[in-house]
Amino acid sequence: MSEPYLPYTPQVEQEQPNESRLIEDIIEHMAQARQQVFDKHRHAVRDAHAKSHAFLKGILTVPVLPPHLAQGIFAEPGHYDVMVRLSAAPGDLRSDQVPVPHGFALKILNVPGARLLADDPSDGKNQDILMVNIPVLAFGTLRKYQQMLPLVTRAEQAPDPMLKGMRSMARSLNALVDKAGLEVPVTLKGWARSQNHILGETYHTMAALRYGDYMAKISVAPESTSVRQLTNIPMQISHDSSIRDLVRDFFKHHSADYVLRAQLCTSLERMPIEDASVLWPEEESAHQTIGTLHFPKQDSYSPERRVYADDVLSFNPWHGVQAHQPLGSIMRVRKQAYERSASFRHRMNTQPRAEPQQLDDMPD
Ligand code: HEM
Repeated sequence: MSEPYLPYTPQVEQEQPNESRLIEDIIEHMAQARQQVFDKHRHAVRDAHAKSHAFLKGILTVPVLPPHLAQGIFAEPGHYDVMVRLSAAPGDLRSDQVPVPHGFALKILNVPGARLLADDPSDGKNQDILMVNIPVLAFGTLRKYQQMLPLVTRAEQAPDPMLKGMRSMARSLNALVDKAGLEVPVTLKGWARSQNHILGETYHTMAALRYGDYMAKISVAPESTSVRQLTNIPMQISHDSSIRDLVRDFFKHHSADYVLRAQLCTSLERMPIEDASVLWPEEESAHQTIGTLHFPKQDSYSPERRVYADDVLSFNPWHGVQAHQPLGSIMRVRKQAYERSASFRHRMNTQPRAEPQQLDDMPD
């Protein structure tokens, strides 16, 4: 029987027209936006996902997997310590009353395998997997991303009361897109989502990565009843930092389990690598479990933990092993984008730039 999953080869990636100029434009734009945000706060925050909601310590269990899933760091069964930072997408600190996408940044500690950034002194031995609670990136090619970035930044910089009034950043962004007469043949629906409980959400890499011999998009979905019962339940948001308090209160009383899943690529036409705005059809390739994440009860936002995870820690899709190389133009621009954001942040806040080596590096 032939394997339905497409094998990874370097040829699946195709340089886009004017790729290096588009990347330079994006990087330059982000540098300007970052300086403005720094001048406002006199403290450097992330260029994207600036606001944290929670930081978690947990454990990833990899079971014995069938050969097509036993790839890369999932090749052998075992346990890994993990750290997670939950965040809001904008590159500035906004009120939780403004509905925005949310992030789930996962760091799997001390994984085996040849590194992607072997020559980079800021690289460690960890595998980062960055996910958002939307399955696709609305501006999924370099060209669309470069066109949309100034509008996204403007929407993000709109005052909180205006965005609260418009009910979402998506509406503000849609209005700007219309005004600019841009044709964006993708949906912004994902941005317009309601504020459902962030612990009940499913988070996605949106773009593809190498999965050993194959290619996949990775996602994390609620598994234990404690978090499944929060799925599609709107959060009660009464003040600017309500989400931090909701999550902190949850982990004071409950533990949580999630499944980590891979959706393998079976067709480059229907599951393109170079356009992250295309939803890979589940009927053609299901999300298959590759591990489970367990987070025990803990204090998800102690002062010590916040300073460490916001200012010292960084997540980067290129912090990982070659067997899980990020794929496609959106992933290629992220190589410089995350490096610039993190080096500015660490320099301006005079914080060490060191990857964690053990779970205790994150304070309780
Ligand atoms: C493919 C889809 C993407 C996903 C799933 C994603 C997800 C995330 C997440 C979850 C974080 C928060 C990390 C943390 O908690 O420290 C983050 C941060 C960030 N993202 Fe993305 N992102 C995507 C695309 C992009 C693109 C296209 C760019 C820029 C061109 C970008 C630039 C950044 C930057 C600069 C940071 C902050 C890095 C730091 O200072 O440590 N992201 N992203």
